[in-house]
Amino acid sequence: MASVAVVDMDVSFCRRVRATVKSATDSRVEELRTLADATALMELREPDILLIGPSIATAEALDFCECSGRVRPSIAMVLVSADESSDTLRRAMRLGVHDVIPADGPWTEVSDALLRALAETSVVQRVEGGGSGQPGSSGRIVTVFSTKGGVGKSVIACNVATALARSGSNVILVDLDLQFGDTGIMLDLKPERTIFDAVQNYDRLDEDMLRGYLVRHSSGLQVLLAPVHPEDADAITVGRIGAILGMLRTLADIIVIDTAAAFDEVVLAAIDASDTVYAVATMDVASIKNTRVSLQKLDQLGYDGGRMRLVINRADSKVWLDAGEVEHSISAELVGKVPSDRLVPRSVNRGVPVVVDSPRSAVARSLVDLAEKISISGSEVAGNVT
Ligand SMILES: Nc1ncnc2c1ncn2[C@@H]1O[C@H](COP(=O)(O)OP(=O)(O)OP(=O)(O)O)[C@@H](O)[C@H]1O
Ligand SMILES: [Mg+2]
Repeated sequence: MASVAVVDMDVSFCRRVRATVKSATDSRVEELRTLADATALMELREPDILLIGPSIATAEALDFCECSGRVRPSIAMVLVSADESSDTLRRAMRLGVHDVIPADGPWTEVSDALLRALAETSVVQRVEGGGSGQPGSSGRIVTVFSTKGGVGKSVIACNVATALARSGSNVILVDLDLQFGDTGIMLDLKPERTIFDAVQNYDRLDEDMLRGYLVRHSSGLQVLLAPVHPEDADAITVGRIGAILGMLRTLADIIVIDTAAAFDEVVLAAIDASDTVYAVATMDVASIKNTRVSLQKLDQLGYDGGRMRLVINRADSKVWLDAGEVEHSISAELVGKVPSDRLVPRSVNRGVPVVVDSPRSAVARSLVDLAEKISISGSEVAGNVT
């Protein structure tokens, strides 16, 4: 559990911070009025996040960050400041201040910064705690990931999830491409209920209610669809996504997450919650470089590289690259190769996954094979694909 300390003379500012943190996590929040109080607190215990409010003079706040930051580099400092001069921003950056938020901006800027810091803290705690997963919950979360668009994440997520459901597993597919999710189209499902409903009723949300927001596919797969309107995505904060994913673990054996082509906090929240991450690359230099850089970035953020797997889509494209070389260059275990086939766009247009539409095709067999590997892996995937 993360702890947040907020320093500000204005009680209502501190209460707003408390309410924001509590709406997203069960983190402890301590309210302090002065920097001297903060110094006293830090002698007793370190908060994970220290937010300094606008009533504290910026120069004093930066002096304080300089002292405490040097002593305790592990604390994420967030500064809400009326002074946004370039000198201030430069100094804050040099001191390693996490975020500087304008005092006269909308509250969402403060809340987003807080939730970002909380998400990163939970990542660090998870990594330091030695693994992912929520205590007392059973379902396994796998995320299909690529920061590049159009590589086949949604095709792979929908087909693998459908194949797993058809083989008898209790599976939930989550469309976390919150603005432009298209799993509903690929599976021909009406978005009568979406993740937006779950978030709107977040205060009352429990497992039973969440179950009611899932849409059932004919294969038995249950789907938590993306919002219908792209602007609704703004209401879906990372804290809430984390909590919803935690609840979903109690509702299924396997939770498959489809993600947007991005490296944002939503994708990080999915990866954070995942037991295994399947990075999708296509056989072109740009995609391979992109995948390598993304995995390196995740590594720098402290994610366990042991959870990363590689899937190559359109693997037989007529290019000079060899799958083994690609695996070597990306340094993640290659667990699936999906050929390019015109049956795939046809199945997308029909709203029928290719594993159902053309089950005997090579492309469907490769996707079923990948689903089997995910199913038997538990935490470990069987041998390499060559
Ligand atoms: N193996 C394949 N063979 C032929 N076409 C494919 C294959 N995989 C995906 N496609 C086609 O590529 C297009 C993009 O696939 P998809 O939507 O799954 O990509 P994505 O990574 O989810 O993209 P985005 O990041 O935009 O969500 C689709 O129209 C699909 O039909
Ligand atoms: Mg997609």
